[in-house]
This record gives sequence, C-alpha cells and structure tokens, in this order.
Amino acid sequence: LNSRNDYVKEAMSQFIDLENREVSVAALHDQELYELELERIFAKAWLMIGHETEIPNVGDYVVRLMGEDQVIVARAADGQVHVSLNVCPHRAMHVCLSDSGNARVQKCIYHGWAFRPDGSFIGAPIEREQMHGNIRTKEQLGLKKARVQLYGGLVFATWNHDGPSLDEWFGDMKFYYDMLFCRTDKGLEVLGPPQRLTIDANWKTAGEQSACDGFHTLTLHGSVIDIGAMGGETDTEHESAPAMYGINLSGNGHSLRCIAADTSWALAHGKGELTPEERLEAFPPPGITPELLPEVKRNMSAEQLHVLAKAPPVVGGMFPNMNILFIYSPLRDGTLGSALVLHSIMPKGPNHFEWTTYYFAEKGTPEHVKVMMRAAATLGTGTSGIIEQDDSDTWPHMTESAKGVIGRTETMKYQAILGENRPADWPDKAKVYEGFGKDDAQWEWWLAYHKLMTAEA
Ligand code: FES
Ligand code: FE
Repeated sequence: LNSRNDYVKEAMSQFIDLENREVSVAALHDQELYELELERIFAKAWLMIGHETEIPNVGDYVVRLMGEDQVIVARAADGQVHVSLNVCPHRAMHVCLSDSGNARVQKCIYHGWAFRPDGSFIGAPIEREQMHGNIRTKEQLGLKKARVQLYGGLVFATWNHDGPSLDEWFGDMKFYYDMLFCRTDKGLEVLGPPQRLTIDANWKTAGEQSACDGFHTLTLHGSVIDIGAMGGETDTEHESAPAMYGINLSGNGHSLRCIAADTSWALAHGKGELTPEERLEAFPPPGITPELLPEVKRNMSAEQLHVLAKAPPVVGGMFPNMNILFIYSPLRDGTLGSALVLHSIMPKGPNHFEWTTYYFAEKGTPEHVKVMMRAAATLGTGTSGIIEQDDSDTWPHMTESAKGVIGRTETMKYQAILGENRPADWPDKAKVYEGFGKDDAQWEWWLAYHKLMTAEA
C-alpha cells in the first residue's frame, strides 16, 4: 500500500506542477491516471446522482452512474431513498436493465435472483438447488449499498462509508449552496427526466471549467452576448459584458460565481440607488417568483439575504463533477426566462463522459412559468442549447490535443491568480475573489483534485 501511495504521489507530480500552477495536457488522456481517478475520486467523493422528486413513490427507481459503476436509486418501502450497486452478486449481470420505472422487485434476467428496492436479497427461483452449497447467508447476498444523503432533495451518494459527512464535504460553501437549493419552504422539483449525452472528451475538461471559468464567456460565448441573450449591455470600456464581473467563491474545490443584478433598470426608471431590500424585490434571483420571495426572506439568514441582494450566486460547480447554472436564459421572443439547471459529468473512459442535464423549478411555481422555464433551459443550457453547445465543442478538442505525442507535452496554465479580496460587507465564508473573472477558483479545483488523488489510500 505504501509503495502504491508513493507511486501515485510521484505520478501526480508529473501531471501537476504545484509551484508554477500548470497541469500537463497529458492528464486529459492518460489511461493509468484515469483508473486512479475512478478509485480515488469517483469511489470516494460525494456524487450528485439525481433528485428525490424523480422517484416520489415506493418502488420508483432511476439508474445512474457513479464513475463507471451503475447504481439503482430507488424509493423503498421505508419511504427512504436507497442507492445500490447495479451488479448481481450471483454472476455480475446488471440486475436492472431500464433507465427508470417502478418495481417492488428487481429481478435479474440471467438466473432470476431477486432484490427489494432497498437492495436486500429476496431469493432465487428453484432456490433449494440454486443456493445449494452457497456459503453465504441471504443477508450477505444483497446488492452493495452506497452511503446516501439528501440535500435540498438532491440525492448524494458515496462509497466512502467512513469519510466526511456531506456538510463537512461542502464546508463553508454550504452557506452559499443553501441560497440555491434550500431557499423555499417546499424546495425544488425536477421538470421531467434528465437529458443525457455522451461527449467525446475527458471529464476534467468540463469539471475544471465549472469552477468559475469566467474568461471564456467573453470569447467562446461571444455570439450569445452579441445577440443580447446573456443579459445586460456590453461594457465597451472593458470590451466585455457584466457577466465577466462578479464575486467568485471557492472552498474544498467547490465554487460559485455571484453576479450583481443589473441596476441600470432602476436608474432608468428614476428610482436612483436601491437599498438591498428594494433590489431583492426588483431583481429576485432566477427561479424566484414574486409569490415565492416572502419564503426566501423567511428561510434565509440576514447575511444570506444580503448576498442575494448584492450579488446572488448564479453559476459554478460542485467538486468534482457538477456544473450549476441558476441563470436568466434567452427565450425565443427575445426576453429572458429563469433556467435552473444542473449538469453532472460522469466519466466513461479517459476520452468520453456522460453529460446529464437536470431542469428544476421551485415547487409551487405556476404551470405557465414552468413551461417558460423549461423553454429557457432548453434554448440556453440544454444539450442543444445555444450556450452549452459552445462549451461541449471545446472539450473534445482539448482531449484530442492530449492524444498527440507532442500535444500532450504542453501544459494548461492557471497563472492569472488575483488572490483573495473580500468586499468589506461580504460574509466571512469561503475564499472570496471580487472583480473580473480570474484563475483562482479553477486552480483551487485542481488543488482539491490533487489532494484527493494523493490522499493515503
Ligand atoms: Fe444474476 Fe445469475 S447473474 S441471477
Ligand atoms: Fe460556458
């Protein structure tokens, strides 16, 4: 074990230059590194694999990925959400072969072993013969269980049964995540099943971008800004859009970008400078209708309300593999609608990942608003959305670069480091970087990656 730990540390020093803040392009293609990532990242981290509103009834299930491991996420007779490895303990067949459904019994098609939604073993057909000579008890023949924790209805699971709690995993960032996922009385619900797409790229290309890459908005999404679909006017002095400015947050590799609501409307309407309270009323965060605003005010602390009024968190990620977009997104008629979207990034080999897109709305949102939100999410951040098709075009190119024997000798550079600069009136939580987008939070993502990869096994 010790020699393996030493081997990993040595290997990591080849890929990540901590002193100069550079990452070898080879890290985007290397098969051995990839196998280590499955072990050390995807079998260790808390991973978001769905939302409990996808499976409201007993027996409801969805099949999801944790790394390359398929799991069954099911609501069992105890009303709880259980996550079980979709591998039959008999001869390793996938027990469940559909994406989703309702089943009180999951029966393996190969030899018929049967399991409850909580993963426990029921029995086998012609059991006396089939189980004859079996040295294990029925209790030992259930599906392998992951550790599960719900947060704002999101289903998080991990194979690390003795590791940190989800709260510890989030650290200070939970204070900010609560403003997205725990802000109303009833919480979020999914708008339909998620979209799934396999992208021909290494998972880390999308993973590290989710950690507050603000730079690319200006260039890669330049056409979206040009047609006025990003919100706000172009700032000619800085040749950029307001979306480039904000307050970046980072902690434990997680990150969020807080972007101030546009005050030009208030000034144009002769309202002058707004108080934080007035601002929150005039520009509620995406997804919050006027009817829901009193709930937000009740559920959030004074400090959280201050952040929401000054610059609400709108985009970012959760380490290692989640991308958050709670934004205003374009509608066909040229106006903007709320899009509450999460993407998960699950690796399928070093050169592919599954990009799963969930749409949300707060429970209690009027039906016609949900229709608008679904349209805004689809047009902006769905798999074919005008924003996400830009991003999903770059990641395969980066991965291809890593396949070239010369290309892989290049490095990715994270030297645009501004350092922490917390505004005086900002809560003392997480690392805070105000101003034009910089590399700080993305480098923190790589540091969290490095830490988990080199942790003693
Ligand atoms: Fe599932 Fe044999 S592999 S019952
Ligand atoms: Fe983007």
